[in-house]
Amino acid sequence: MAQYSLLNEETGDKTELPVKEGTVGPVGLDVGKVYAQQGVFTYDPGFTSTCSCDSAITYIDGDAGLLMYRGYPVDQLAQNSSFIEVAYLILNGELPNAQQLESFDQSIRRHTMINESLKRFFEGFHYDAHPMAMLTGVVGSLSAFYHDTTNNKDPHHREIFAHRMIAKIPTIAAAAYKRYFGQPFIYPQNHLDYSSNLLQMMFAVPAEPYHVDPVAAKALDVLFILHADHEQNASTSTVRLAGSTGCNPYAAIASGIAALWGPAHGGANEAVLRMLDEIGTVDNVKPFMEKVKNKESGVRLMGFGHRVYKNFDPRATIIREHCHKVLKHFGQENDPQMELALELERIALEDDYFRERKLYPNVDFYSGIIYKALGIPVNMFTPMFAIARAVGWVAHWNEMSSDASTRIGRPRQIYTGPAQRDYAAIDKR
Ligand code: CMC
Repeated sequence: MAQYSLLNEETGDKTELPVKEGTVGPVGLDVGKVYAQQGVFTYDPGFTSTCSCDSAITYIDGDAGLLMYRGYPVDQLAQNSSFIEVAYLILNGELPNAQQLESFDQSIRRHTMINESLKRFFEGFHYDAHPMAMLTGVVGSLSAFYHDTTNNKDPHHREIFAHRMIAKIPTIAAAAYKRYFGQPFIYPQNHLDYSSNLLQMMFAVPAEPYHVDPVAAKALDVLFILHADHEQNASTSTVRLAGSTGCNPYAAIASGIAALWGPAHGGANEAVLRMLDEIGTVDNVKPFMEKVKNKESGVRLMGFGHRVYKNFDPRATIIREHCHKVLKHFGQENDPQMELALELERIALEDDYFRERKLYPNVDFYSGIIYKALGIPVNMFTPMFAIARAVGWVAHWNEMSSDASTRIGRPRQIYTGPAQRDYAAIDKR
């Protein structure tokens, strides 16, 4: 294997850079001793070339358009598995047998309720608060309820936390939705599967019976599988960084939710639908694309581009297929936004601007169209993402917390402020 070292050509000082090998993928150069030996930092804002940890959970090959959870390609899981089975896999490393799946599923179903006093938190939010704001606040508040079982070093405590977090986040997201619409909170029904239960908590009202549409529940389940983890993305890295301080795990997850909300990350699904609304009709696509290509406009084609995928996002391919099925089921085959999205995609894929920069539709380009067909309002799109990604956040927090070599995450900087100077009295300034 190639040897790497960092040489100061002036002094001749040389630091050997040990090579870290994973199962697949590029090797990493361990630069941990560079500062101690040579007094220089490495510099990589945006972490384009920097690994922050070892992880056995998820692998992405951006050039091949491959995403695997614990070694299983995501398309196989979307085709054959359920979200709850995938959650087990991501958390535990192996697919469950029938008894393990039953026991995990039951545990998640039994943890869906939230403390009654937590329910009252929602009344404190302004009626039109964004559901992501409520989700961040209320998930963070779970830390005030379960501080007796949050010894990060205790595997049993970690397991209780994982099950509670995955079980309660749909209940909290649905409560945020109900608050936004001024409807009464609907309790979980534990005879329902994960996705059906979420639909019932969002759309049932006490005044009439509610029947879960199995096609809607299946579509949601597939979307959740596709969003469940994505290795060291911004929100997961935020959870890891917060968690590395030893903070309460619910607070660490709340920090991940806050990071997810941004339009460059999970907020893109909401931004895509707002963009499609703004474009309006197919006639406006060309002028809109000109605006996107003119950097001065600051307009981006939302739902396009990815830091890691430079060929295609496998999740987008699966979602695109599902989009057609779901629209057909709901009699919305001629949905104008779907037509608009297809036209935007067609033009972008033929355009040199996008081809040269390897910009392809990402997971968020089509997911909003499915959510909309299911009757989910635009401002609930990112909470949907958060529900699914909670599995990944918990798994990464768990992996980090059970690793004895974990240290507090603490990047360095290139300081560009004033050099040392003396305080001047106010009359001398
Ligand atoms: N529309 C137009 N131009 C773009 C876009 C876009 N969506 N994305 C990247 N570019 C251009 C960018 O201007 C730059 O051009 P140049 O080299 O001439 O300066 C080049 O492509 C590289 O872009 P970058 O911003 O350096 O790439 P990045 O890896 O830092 O950012 C990204 C990745 C996803 C933040 C970015 O592609 C983007 O803003 N996309 C739109 C938002 C979006 O859809 N986000 C969801 C990502 S997938 C789900 C998730 O992560 O949660």
